[in-house]
Amino acid sequence: MTSIAMPLIEDLAANNNDKYGMLPLKFTWFEGQIAGHNPTMVKDGKRQLGMVKESGNGDKILKPAQDGKRGEREVQFYHDVFVSGMNDPSLNDLRRLLPNFFGTRKIEIEAQESLFLVLEDVTCTFSLPASIDIKIGKQTFGPDATEAKKLKEIETNPVQGTLGYRVLGYRIAEQEDNTFKKDPKWRSEENRMISAVQEFFDQAHDVHIIKEQLLEKLGHIKKVAGKRRFHMYSSSILIVYENDRNCEQNVDVRMIDFSHVHPGMGLPDDNYLFGLNRLIETIEEL
Ligand SMILES: Nc1ncnc2c1ncn2[C@@H]1O[C@H](COP(=O)(O)OP(=O)(O)O)[C@@H](O)[C@H]1O
Ligand SMILES: [Mg+2]
Repeated sequence: MTSIAMPLIEDLAANNNDKYGMLPLKFTWFEGQIAGHNPTMVKDGKRQLGMVKESGNGDKILKPAQDGKRGEREVQFYHDVFVSGMNDPSLNDLRRLLPNFFGTRKIEIEAQESLFLVLEDVTCTFSLPASIDIKIGKQTFGPDATEAKKLKEIETNPVQGTLGYRVLGYRIAEQEDNTFKKDPKWRSEENRMISAVQEFFDQAHDVHIIKEQLLEKLGHIKKVAGKRRFHMYSSSILIVYENDRNCEQNVDVRMIDFSHVHPGMGLPDDNYLFGLNRLIETIEEL
């Protein structure tokens, strides 16, 4: 299996938008994407799809369903929570912490039908969104992962295994420009990873307001993760704050990325909770 990533994901915004000429008219790659699969990646000779926006539908974002089990799992998860579980009150708290789900949709891209999840775009209510993607949990593979995958994950992300979270990157929209940061050095030491979180929030205009709201929202996630319903591996928390000082200083926090979600079988999600608690400690120190 070959995987190359060139040019870098930050170019998505700079070259906006469909420099690969893949998307049908009306669709563009989402400029605010921080991490994950995207069209700068080629895997097994196939250009990957990334997050897509459709003109006239600014409040929604289209996420490509991944190949095989991963895509099936994520679609099933959103379906279980928003469709078949719609009247299940024990899922109310979880529903509030996820981007809203509007079903799936097929789009023809390069003569092939591709399946997308239609989700709420969490950044769309912000004038200048500053967003960070933080992967939660010491273990980033599900119980069904191959030995090779387990070893690779453990080897490449040692800090994730001890700290329990990992910043994948952050993006801060500014009046004139856009800051994108993703540093491989963060992965080598806990202190560097913690500094990445601090650095992102240090750039907020009123860190105190944001910190208070953020801790409250992370507390809600903690409550939900303690419910023993799901175990989430390799899942992220997306945090977005307002970087426009003329707008209300608020923050949104959502759980995203569920390609490795498994049934909880009545056991607490200790792996996720460990990382979440460490992240809460880091935020408390801001
Ligand atoms: N609902 C959403 N609203 C806004 N941005 C999102 C949303 N979901 C994901 N993103 C952006 O897309 C990126 C990749 O999403 P993710 O679900 O993690 O995909 P992958 O499964 O490819 O890792 C995130 O880092 C974030 O920047
Ligand atoms: Mg992801």
